[in-house]
Amino acid sequence: MYLNINNDKIHSGEIDILGAKNSALGIIAASVILDGDITLYNIPDLYDIHVMIEALKQIGFNVFFKNNTLKITGEANNFILSNESLSSIRGSYYFYSSLLAKFFHVSSFLPGGCNLGARPINYHLEGFASLGCDYVIFDNHIEIITQELHPNDIHLPFPSVGATINLIILASTILGVTHIYNPALEPEVLDLINFLNHAGAKISIKENYIEIMGVTKLKGIKYKIIPDRIESGSYMLLALTKTFSSISLNNTNYKHLEEVIKTIKNIGGIVRLNKNKITVISPKKITPINITSGVYPKFPTDLIQILAAILSDSYYPSTITDTIFENRYSYLKELKKLNIDVKYNFPSYQVSSSHIFNSAKLICSDLRGAFSLFTSCFLTHGHFQIQNVDFIFRGYNSFLDNLKKMNVSFSLGCSTDNLLF
Ligand code: EPU
Repeated sequence: MYLNINNDKIHSGEIDILGAKNSALGIIAASVILDGDITLYNIPDLYDIHVMIEALKQIGFNVFFKNNTLKITGEANNFILSNESLSSIRGSYYFYSSLLAKFFHVSSFLPGGCNLGARPINYHLEGFASLGCDYVIFDNHIEIITQELHPNDIHLPFPSVGATINLIILASTILGVTHIYNPALEPEVLDLINFLNHAGAKISIKENYIEIMGVTKLKGIKYKIIPDRIESGSYMLLALTKTFSSISLNNTNYKHLEEVIKTIKNIGGIVRLNKNKITVISPKKITPINITSGVYPKFPTDLIQILAAILSDSYYPSTITDTIFENRYSYLKELKKLNIDVKYNFPSYQVSSSHIFNSAKLICSDLRGAFSLFTSCFLTHGHFQIQNVDFIFRGYNSFLDNLKKMNVSFSLGCSTDNLLF
């Protein structure tokens, strides 16, 4: 699908932020190990979530999803996940730990997700092995099995979000004490811990490790997912473009966005905070900066591409470095179509521009890169086309409704009726 944007005015708007996709993925999979009915609130209505819901149904649960509320009843009765769509999303690997905890066995697809580099899962598998599991990988499949799970001390080579979540889920029902050293402590990880602790788990965060005291039973609960800090941050950065005056976000949590807010202020934007509401006011001109992404609480890798689009709108170059993924660059060749100058010095690059073109056809190839290209269409007035816009729908709830709320003129089409260009 493509999105035509006719950017002929100054925009502003107020939108609602939903629950964090990356939090919901772990929590939905972790629901497998709870006994009793579960209700999850603030669940975003996104493709990845629907894939997880289908998987829950396939393994035996009754699932009802309406108005961002997910009700899960019944219980799992098998450990084989044969739905191939699981290989199109990253979060499907959270079922490895929950099904292992429940059945001592899981058979599934390898995870997919955006192409940001190799994205191995060795930390997950080494962690599972140290808790007593064996695994075999063949074609696009994985089978993990255990005779007996046991607690252990696990040292992660890097604070991986996915590996930390998977190991917490598995360890939470292994009797004894498991420690995860060098864990990821992103808000999404803390949300999973909070969810499991509400259900009866005993998980605590120490100075440089997470301690999990296994319990025999976790009970069904009602739980509200935290607001999506990456969705919030994306719109906050969009507000900095020349053709926006301001954007206000409701139902968000500024405490998860401290580094993003600091960066926006450094660039020249104004940020107003009021309880669960954030308003960002566009600067008159962009102040160039040097920025490096890092693990939380540093600037998130998921926002670095969108930030790059903003920083391009300056004659003076900004230097950007992504330390998390080795291949989050494919969108840069698209930004060049707008006459944005990109100088590579991997893993860093510089962006600048003396005159941004007012028309271009931009092709998306990953979720956050897609939002970056979308953002670049607001650096100047003109007509733009975003191809493969479906990538944006994968991570941004009610995206088209939000465009209407921000008074953006657009039309949506499929590739065969590409009339504008
Ligand atoms: N890594 C390994 N081996 C592993 C696991 C990770 O080498 O076993 C490496 C990765 O290749 C990467 C780094 O460690 O270089 C960090 O990866 P991490 O495991 O933290 O990332 P992830 O769990 O695959 C999640 C989010 C990403 C987000 C990153 C970093 C989900 C489903 N995905 O990915 O979100 O960028 O954490 O915060 O939670 C997105 O939403 O667009 C997205 C890509």
